[in-house]
Amino acid sequence: MYPIDLEGKTGIIFGVANHRSIAWAIAQVLHEAGARLAICYQNERVMEPVAKLVEPWGNGVLIECDVSSDENVATAYKKASKELGRLDYIVHSIAFANRDDLGGPFVETSREGFKLALDVSAYSLVPIARYGAPLMGEDGGSILTMTFQASTSVFPGYNVMGTAKAALENEVKQLANDLGPQNIRVNAISAGPLDTLSSRVITGYRDMKRIHAERSPMGRNITTDEVAKTALYLCCDMSSGVTGEILHVDTGYNIMGM
Ligand SMILES: NC(=O)c1ccc[n+]([C@@H]2O[C@H](COP(=O)([O-])OP(=O)(O)OC[C@H]3O[C@@H](n4cnc5c(N)ncnc54)[C@H](O)[C@@H]3O)[C@@H](O)[C@H]2O)c1
Repeated sequence: MYPIDLEGKTGIIFGVANHRSIAWAIAQVLHEAGARLAICYQNERVMEPVAKLVEPWGNGVLIECDVSSDENVATAYKKASKELGRLDYIVHSIAFANRDDLGGPFVETSREGFKLALDVSAYSLVPIARYGAPLMGEDGGSILTMTFQASTSVFPGYNVMGTAKAALENEVKQLANDLGPQNIRVNAISAGPLDTLSSRVITGYRDMKRIHAERSPMGRNITTDEVAKTALYLCCDMSSGVTGEILHVDTGYNIMGM
């Protein structure tokens, strides 16, 4: 529990698959601070574990949403606003690429694999912002997404997901410019490696994690809790003047040259 009071605030979190999901860690800190939340999961396959996570809250709203269709996103917001009314926070914590495209030479990336990774992992933030922004009140709100340093440097194995993160980070800046006049802030957290369903399918993930710990200034890996605390900061009023930012939460790994 952190000394931030979000009583009366509401949010929607896209991307909870299980208890390891970064989205779930963010949902927990926002919930503990007093916000009422809608939790979006991709499909029936993950519904049961996600429902079990949210059940103890008593006031959580569960919504199925595959973000590969704009209609699904619009419907998810309709359901969320019916239950919650105005929205203050939107968290986009979603990525997907075919396993074949996460490893091997990047030059072998297929056209279909490229489209799929960019559509789900990067484009989806656009409809999520487009349909979500009108539900934010007069005071505006905060939109947050998750990225990784492979947007700007080569991390062998991360491949097409690096391209998707580069697109996503550019979207953050363009959306921040579009939505700034409505007092809606758009930011990204660039997190160091964390053990989740998504990271485990990246070829060389274990080495990536070990090297981060060895070479980062702080000499260790980040924790999910540290990412969630930063998300809380970016959602709440403490960051009221911060937008279009890619904030590294990686024990400093990104600053190192060698
Ligand atoms: N784990 C890490 O090391 C790490 C580091 C930096 C950034 N990130 C980013 O954090 C975000 C969350 O990933 P995570 O590590 O928590 O893994 P995760 O697997 O728990 O979360 C990814 C989520 O994306 C959802 N998803 C995939 N395709 C979807 C679709 N079509 N529609 C709706 N949802 C879909 C999955 O169901 C899942 O909930 C991703 O953007 C990831 O790239 C992760």
